[in-house]
Amino acid sequence: SVWIMTKDSSFPSVHTLLDKIEAASEDPVPVNQRSAKNLKSSVLYIFTSGTTGLPKAAVISHIQVLKGAAGLWAFGATAEDIIYITLPLYHSAASLLGIGGCVELGATCVLKKKFSASQFWSDCKKYNVTVIQYIGELCRYLCSQPLREGEKNHKVRLAVGNGVRNDVWREFLNRFGAVKICEFYGATEGNICFMNHTGKIGSVGRTNFFYKLFFPFDLIKYDFQKDEPVRNKYGWCEKVKKGEAGLLISKVNAKNPFFGYAGNKRHTEKKLLCEVFKKGDLYFNTGDLMVQDHENFLYFWDRIGDTFRWKGENVATTEVSDVIVMLDFIQEANVYGVSVPDHEGKAGMASLILKQSTSLDLEQMYKQVVTYLPSYACPLFLRVQEKMEMTGTFKQQKFRLVDEGFNPSTITDPLYFLDSSKKAYVLLTKEVHEMILSGKMKL
Ligand SMILES: *[C@@H]1O[C@H](CO)[C@@H](O)[C@H](O)[C@H]1NC(C)=O
Ligand SMILES: *[C@@H]1O[C@H](CO)[C@@H](O)[C@H](O)[C@H]1NC(C)=O
Repeated sequence: SVWIMTKDSSFPSVHTLLDKIEAASEDPVPVNQRSAKNLKSSVLYIFTSGTTGLPKAAVISHIQVLKGAAGLWAFGATAEDIIYITLPLYHSAASLLGIGGCVELGATCVLKKKFSASQFWSDCKKYNVTVIQYIGELCRYLCSQPLREGEKNHKVRLAVGNGVRNDVWREFLNRFGAVKICEFYGATEGNICFMNHTGKIGSVGRTNFFYKLFFPFDLIKYDFQKDEPVRNKYGWCEKVKKGEAGLLISKVNAKNPFFGYAGNKRHTEKKLLCEVFKKGDLYFNTGDLMVQDHENFLYFWDRIGDTFRWKGENVATTEVSDVIVMLDFIQEANVYGVSVPDHEGKAGMASLILKQSTSLDLEQMYKQVVTYLPSYACPLFLRVQEKMEMTGTFKQQKFRLVDEGFNPSTITDPLYFLDSSKKAYVLLTKEVHEMILSGKMKL
């Protein structure tokens, strides 16, 4: 059924919600009316690209909602705090941690329909905001705003979020004053999170013996060429040394359950690694590479598999390539993310193989991606190759392509760039490349 947030509707099959909410009792729902039987019952679905395949609906249980709602409290927020939320509510950060956290604390929530860099600090002043939620991009947009009088003149004391780069973090503190930045790490559907609290620049958290009792995790060696965890001659995975990047996996057991995805069971199974260190063990594969330093601080390194992040959103490479191969001149599309200096995340790039005796129709390509993909998922770069490289297990080889990036001076294949001001793919010349690196070209 379809419900809308109004009091009346002119469509007989569309139900209205506001009138019913207003008429509803404020008393707790009687136990016999509740559908949730225990903490493991599902409460909602959140669409996520996970790390493999197409976006899918992660099953969120009551226990995850309660854990998420404890986040603000764990970072030291109280009922007196006023929390400013500008992130989209369809992500777990804003919905579970932000809104859930406000409900849990009994704090005040200031909800903004859409993030605005120019109104951010004036809103904070106007509403006496004390806690803000961020993603890395948001901090960078704030830092690139023109300087204004009295910028430090606000009451914000905590910033809770993830993905801020070290240089942006430093600049943010210099510019906007002594805000305590609380980075956390967690996947919507995952059974692990890191936080706290020490304000160490760049780190997503610190681990110790007790933490590992509650959240058993490991960092294991990863083979970039084969795109899978390294297995030794006995078939087991191996832990990395401190200071080395490893794939973060977290143990799945009765205390740390993994609720999986709605629908096809195969999706859930693909996220799990079995027989990792011994027979019968089971781990959740986060798809994220992390480094643990000698003081046990953890740092996010990179993301593996077939997703990458751009503008704070997860891009599922399979979804993008499925849209591109619908074009009749495309034989195959290999989609991956490449680093661009001074930008968080990875910009989308598609390496294409054309069908025999066809040519690349850039106009149709542009139309196809902007029609069928959200703007953050449209590939910014195209590369036309003669033949696709495969891994030993017949997966598309991305590692070398990612490494080569989008530099026309070193790549001999034709390269194109999605120029949003021209609403078209244009040839990626050395001049265009230079403008992208210097920040003159908007991505
Ligand atoms: C913000 O705080 C000031 C001073 O405590 C108060 O006068 C003002 O009413 C507050 N604003 C809001 C929107 O609550
Ligand atoms: C987080 O770190 C602060 C110090 O920065 C400490 O006071 C607090 O107890 C820590 N919280 C947890 C849950 O470890």
